Amino acid sequence: MKKLIIANWKMNPKSDEEAIALARAVEKGIAHLGGVTAVIAPPFPFLGAVHAVLDHTLLGAQDVFWEESGAYTGEVSAHELREVGVRYVIIGHSERRAMGESNVVVNKKLRAVLEEGLTAVLCVGEPKKVRVKGTTAAQSFVKRQLEDSMKGIKNWKSGIEDNVIIAYEPVWAIGTGEEDDPKDVAEMAEFIKKTLKPITQNLTPQVLYGGSTDAANVAGYIETGLIDGALVGGASLKASEFIAMARNIERVSETEK
Ligand code: PGA
Repeated sequence: MKKLIIANWKMNPKSDEEAIALARAVEKGIAHLGGVTAVIAPPFPFLGAVHAVLDHTLLGAQDVFWEESGAYTGEVSAHELREVGVRYVIIGHSERRAMGESNVVVNKKLRAVLEEGLTAVLCVGEPKKVRVKGTTAAQSFVKRQLEDSMKGIKNWKSGIEDNVIIAYEPVWAIGTGEEDDPKDVAEMAEFIKKTLKPITQNLTPQVLYGGSTDAANVAGYIETGLIDGALVGGASLKASEFIAMARNIERVSETEK
């Protein structure tokens, strides 16, 4: 399967014009890269405008609501996202969890996204206070997030679990410039893949890494052979940096063949 790179623009940029310019620049740089799938997840108001300038790059969303339609002021459904061209939806990002999103909510969102036929990018990752206790503590934390977020998935529409991608993002590494060790990340990715087998029907999903990734460090994660791509925040706001990351991911996957 092709490696994946996802741009999580978060609450940036400030205008339609800037969003279009950034998307155009990324699209231009990505167009000739055949070995990596690129996704841009802009803020909701820019989804339509960004989609209009994308051709080789796919559209993502940063969040979703679980109900199909109705009186839910301020919310956006998976169906509405699909209507504007969204194919990937980030769910359970730690910045949303920090605003109070629980595993129960994440579970409902996951189901809604998958049943709409979209691909879910389910984010998991331990905070610093857990990580300092060691690998076993971090793994138990992530295991709990996976089990609770994916609860009942075996009984959902058959086959939809193939559309789950896991993004491992240690909370302390997000937006901090604090880089995690590729060996530790690979160990967690392996643990995630093993943990998911009994939760799903023996699914081995793609596992992305996110947390202060950039053009200089991304190859190190991919080279472990256990990381299938990157979920990129800060570095995705600079087209040249994001394109360089995509190129580096492609280069490593070419050498793996
Ligand atoms: P970062 O963000 O690359 O700025 O650390 C990653 C993310 O939040 O997905």
